[in-house]
Amino acid sequence: MGYSDTYARWQADPDGFWMEAAQGIDWDTAPTKALHDLGDNMYEWFADGTTNTCWNAVDRHVEAGRGDQVAIIHDSPITGTIHKITYSELKDRVASLAGALRAKGIEKGDRVIIYMPMVPEAVEAMLACSRLGAVHSVVFGGFAANELAVRIDDAQPKAIIAASCGLEPGRVVHYKPLLDGAIDLATHKPDFCVIFQREQEVAALIEGRDYDWHGFQAGVAPAECVMVEGNHPSYILYTSGTTGQPKGVIRHTGGQLVALNWTMKAIYNVDPGDVFWAASDVGWVVGHSYICYAPLIHGNTTIVFEGKPVGTPDAGTFWRVISEHKVNSFFTAPTAFRAVKREDPKGEFVRKYDLSCLEQVYLAGERADPDTIVWAQDQLGVPVVDHWWQTETGWAIAANPLGIEALPIKLGSPSVPMPGYDVQILDEGGTPVANGELGAIAIKLPLPPGTLPTLWNAEARYKKSYLTTYPGYYETGDAGMMDEDGYLYIMARTDDVINVAGHRLSTGAMEEVLAGHPDVAECAVIGVTDQLKGQMPMGFVCLNSGTEKAEADVTAECVKLVREKIGPVAAFKLCCVVDRLPKTRSGKILRATMVKIADNEEYKMPATIDDPAILDEIKTALQGLGYAKG
Ligand code: COA
Ligand code: AMP
Repeated sequence: MGYSDTYARWQADPDGFWMEAAQGIDWDTAPTKALHDLGDNMYEWFADGTTNTCWNAVDRHVEAGRGDQVAIIHDSPITGTIHKITYSELKDRVASLAGALRAKGIEKGDRVIIYMPMVPEAVEAMLACSRLGAVHSVVFGGFAANELAVRIDDAQPKAIIAASCGLEPGRVVHYKPLLDGAIDLATHKPDFCVIFQREQEVAALIEGRDYDWHGFQAGVAPAECVMVEGNHPSYILYTSGTTGQPKGVIRHTGGQLVALNWTMKAIYNVDPGDVFWAASDVGWVVGHSYICYAPLIHGNTTIVFEGKPVGTPDAGTFWRVISEHKVNSFFTAPTAFRAVKREDPKGEFVRKYDLSCLEQVYLAGERADPDTIVWAQDQLGVPVVDHWWQTETGWAIAANPLGIEALPIKLGSPSVPMPGYDVQILDEGGTPVANGELGAIAIKLPLPPGTLPTLWNAEARYKKSYLTTYPGYYETGDAGMMDEDGYLYIMARTDDVINVAGHRLSTGAMEEVLAGHPDVAECAVIGVTDQLKGQMPMGFVCLNSGTEKAEADVTAECVKLVREKIGPVAAFKLCCVVDRLPKTRSGKILRATMVKIADNEEYKMPATIDDPAILDEIKTALQGLGYAKG
């Protein structure tokens, strides 16, 4: 059955479609139906089934006789080590860790924050939580203590599992002081912490609060899988919204299992036993879905890679890993390919390796520019598939489903909606627009299994953020269009979210930090186009009258403050002082116009602008930062 028939089959009988997909999962109690309509636009999937995520990701493969297959390959060009863990070993390691967590009081429904770098223990910690029915929340290592503290207060974890350190090229990330700082800042205090000591930096433990990863497992009985309901939360993952308060996206157990398992063949075209590699981080949704859960649920070998596309040690790292571990499907972000292409435009590193194992490549996280796709296609000689999704959805909304049918690739488009997603382009009034016309991208409710059912402890915010603008639809926050063949084009965000090196960041959150600087009266942060990272944040600050500090000192302090409060991942390095910000007469800052000036794009003078002359001042300031020179 090809793509059109598969999509039509889903449209004709969504429940039947997903119940059939549910057969790929082991249930303790089989669900009687797929969708549960709770009313008021709230839905759940497989709510009356019971199962366990860790069982499906680990134990069942051992039971089925695949215990000797490698489950995880940890490849760290930063430490120069490669470590392989079979499914049998993974089961023992995870059961032991889960047993130790249980002995310290972790039970079904308890939250556990995981703050770890790209080591297999991060995946094991996630699986150990799943084994107990505990709800994990992984926090990306590039966030600062303050961001961790915000998540601690929202998730209220009973325990935090962290590593002593992370390793960035040329820099050790001191996780333990960041963790201690976050716990000091947070109002909620965890009962205990578990610290995985890395040999690169051993952290001092706090007596009575911190336990050593290995030590606390000694002599403890391993834990069996705890069965949970299909609508039991598997995890919370915080993502950027319009404000400094991140949104706690929830994933339910049953839907995640069914949907992710289905995607591995349908979209990523791999069979159990194949090696699948997503070069992302466990702190992001790509890491949750495609480093940890999907490949393991589907019985693949997954790669936990601690390195960068370039500089660890060179632009051939990706190809070395693919060749050495016989990777079949590879998933990365366009920014990573842009970084490689910049250092190796002719693909000299590509030709050093035997890449005959590689059958397809997937890109997501930001818009994939055609130049990058063409370069990758030319170098690798395999399909390079752009696909579009969000933390909220947990898996692709639109893709080229190579395991169902390889559709023609259209550059600039992540191809077509996946079964489960009825994607519509709407005008401001919520009416679908014609093919080829721009509009807001919305998905008709219900969303498919594996997507967010709500936000953690914030149902009102869930409804307000996603369900209110277009009644009956989920608002994606992306704008774009659909062509006559049903291919989607994702053009821009409709909110204050920007995308820096595939990382989703909130300009609103950065503005909140800048506004906290004692000399800053007013500020705006915009995302300007960057050749490598896609976008870069840029801050404009107006100083309090009477400020005596030099402008350069204030901007340097602002850069430091964002790094301290949000973290290095914000990549906030561009900041300037201006006298005034361009505003409408009602006081709204004209951020979109500022972006157009920075990017040398044509713009119409906004009719409601308070004082057009300010735009010239903005242009001069931008030129001082090396922008708006066209
Ligand atoms: N822990 C601590 N710090 C981290 C971090 C982590 N896990 N990840 C990134 N950082 C830091 C970096 O060290 C850098 O710090 P610096 O300002 O001291 O140099 C900063 O955050 C910005 O990181 P990043 O935007 O990733 O840029 P980079 O200069 O390290 O690398 C690329 C540039 C293009 C090679 C890189 O952005 C890249 O490939 N990113 C991968 C994108 C990706 O996988 N996205 C996930 C979505 S699928
Ligand atoms: P995140 O939640 O971090 O995965 O970021 C999701 C956002 O990244 C989406 O809403 C888009 O704005 C953007 N994005 C992700 N994938 C793509 C893609 N393939 N093309 C265009 N934008 C994308």
